[in-house]
Order: sequence, then structure tokens, then C-alpha cells
Amino acid sequence: MAILLPGGAGFIGSHTAVELLNAGKEIIILDNFSNSKPEAITAIKEITGKDFKFYEIDYTDREKLESIFESNNIEAVINFAGYKAVGESVQKPIEYYTNNISGALVLLDTMRKYGCKKFIFSSSATVYGEPQKMPITEEFETGGTTNPYGTTKLFIEQILKDIYKSDNDWDICILRYFNPVGAHKSGLIGEEPKGIPNNLMPYVSRVAAGVLQELSIFGNDYNTPDGTGVRDYIHVVDLAKGHEKALQKLEKEETGLYIYNLGTGTGYSVLDMVHAFEKSTGKKVPYKIAPRRAGDIAMCYADPKKAKEELGWEATKTLEDMCRDSWNYTKSQMIN
Ligand code: UFG
Repeated sequence: MAILLPGGAGFIGSHTAVELLNAGKEIIILDNFSNSKPEAITAIKEITGKDFKFYEIDYTDREKLESIFESNNIEAVINFAGYKAVGESVQKPIEYYTNNISGALVLLDTMRKYGCKKFIFSSSATVYGEPQKMPITEEFETGGTTNPYGTTKLFIEQILKDIYKSDNDWDICILRYFNPVGAHKSGLIGEEPKGIPNNLMPYVSRVAAGVLQELSIFGNDYNTPDGTGVRDYIHVVDLAKGHEKALQKLEKEETGLYIYNLGTGTGYSVLDMVHAFEKSTGKKVPYKIAPRRAGDIAMCYADPKKAKEELGWEATKTLEDMCRDSWNYTKSQMIN
């Protein structure tokens, strides 16, 4: 029985593929490389020394998807095939709603047709909108998303709840990621945003590499200890292991719909991140204070207790690991 990973060549998908292969799982990756590269497939094989099937298809292509289900024995699906750039989603709402929501529906409908009902969904802390207190537990109200990307996550969560309500044979796990950073220690896979990065860590790495001149810190007048935005940064390898634990739960226990925060439980400010990066890499990160970015919130960090208690999962990597591994990956990309 195989685990299907649509979008498995991307940042979080490729790291999860490595963890699943290391845990002895059979996987199948499908990807259209819209936001990833074929080299990731070779890298996953190189890191793990294991082979797996790969299909270059768009996961919204029902016919091709069906033929993959037809010719393989698929036990569960972990969907990484969503578009994820917040700013781009504001410019291209139709593309985001089509790829993320229609794509998920095609996938879920195909799964139903082939009697495969174990599904793990990559959601995001963005579904909590602007919470009034911290840390965020899974019981917090959802809604109030400020961009189409976030709204696709919110809508798909609702779709999954409705599907489970209609048929309790489904076994669904919604994972709400906080801020994934870092890379595999090999430097062979990591985050490769197209063009100028929007997210903090890839931006910082490129400033350190001299590719970008300086970091703009978006606001230093938030109600936070040093005035800059606070987030729960989580190493992508820890995050990947969270998927393996979620899969174990779906395999072992009775069917259900489960929701977990995947975060460390600790919030760091933008300035904390800059200083930690400089300390662990020895590189300077010149910065300036710029106006707040539209749609940003002051603070966002998880209460990760539920995942610890129910999945036996906990983030173990430090901020230093996150900075070092992000830098290691950026460096390897700049040299190649
Ligand atoms: N920041 C800067 N300068 C930059 C980039 C970011 O100061 O050049 C700041 C932001 O203002 C924020 C923090 O760094 O305070 C983190 O910003 P990111 O863009 O890295 O991450 P966000 O928290 O904005 O967004 C992330 C994911 C989204 C997800 C969201 C949910 O990228 O996919 O968390 O909480 F929706």
C-alpha cells in the first residue's frame, strides 16, 4: 500500500517524502513542477537511498489522476499541491481558488471513487485570522482570513468537515502549519521561492548571500516585546515528522476528523530572527525599518499541546538549526 503525495517535489512535500521513506513507507509522488524542480525528486532518492514512483501531472487532471489510482494500491493521500504565496493570491484569486479548491475536490472525489479515504491536509495558522490571545489552540474560532490563499485553506477545512459528516468512513487529519523554515541538513532540498521572496527566512538568507541588498523589517511599532512581528517558526524537518505521526494515527485508530497545530509554541520576533541568523551563520544581515505590511498581524504562535498528547509529536529543532540549515541550502543554491 502506498502513500500518494501530490506536490511532493515542493518544500514541505519533499521533506515529508524523505521522512516517510526513512520510516519504511512506500510513496508515490505526483507534481507538475509549477513551484518546484525535477532535481528535488533526484535529491529525495539520493538522501534516502530509496526509490519510488513519480508522475509528472497536474493534480487537477482527473483523467490522469484516476489512471494513477487505477494502477496503484493507494492507502492514503497527503496533499501538498496547493499554491501558497499570499501576495500572489491577491493578484490571482481565480488561479488560487481553482488550483487549491477545485484541485482538492478532484482529488477527494477520485479518492472516494477508489475507496481511499485517508487524507492529510496541509492547512495553515492563517485560518485563525487575527486571534485576540496567544498561544493559539485548535479550539480557537477560525475565519477572518485576509487573502485568497488563506481563504482556500479555510474553505477546504470546511469541505473536509462536511465530507466527514456525510460519511464517517473518511479518516481525515488537518494540520495547521505555523511558519515553516529551514531545510534538510544535506542542503539538497529546501525552499526555493520564485523571484524575490515574500517570507522572512528566504529573504534574510538572500541578503546574507549578497543577492539582495537589505532586509525591510515591516513595522517596529507592533504591540510585541521589541515592536516587530512575532511568529512561531518551525523547522521543516520537524514539520515533516508531524505528517508521519499523523499518518500513524490514521493507520492505527478508528476513523475521525482530527485537527492539530504544528508549531513549536515559542514566538520569535523579526529582530530575534535576524540576530539568531547572524549568530549562527556569522553573516551580517543589513536591515532597515519599513512600514507595516498590509494584512500582517502582530503575533502568532501555537499551543502545540494537542499534537504532543495525541500524536506523540513535538518540535525538537532549535532556532539555530533553522538558521543554519536555511543558510546551508541557500548557499548550495547560489553555488550551483
Ligand atoms: N517580514 C519582514 N520582512 C520581510 C518578510 C517578512 O519584516 O521581508 C516579517 C513579517 O512582517 C512578519 C514576519 O516577518 O512579521 C513573518 O513573515 P512571513 O512572510 O515569513 O510569514 P507570515 O507569518 O506572514 O506568513 C506565514 C506563511 C503563510 C501563512 C501565514 C499564517 O507564509 O503561508 O504564515 O500565519 F498563511
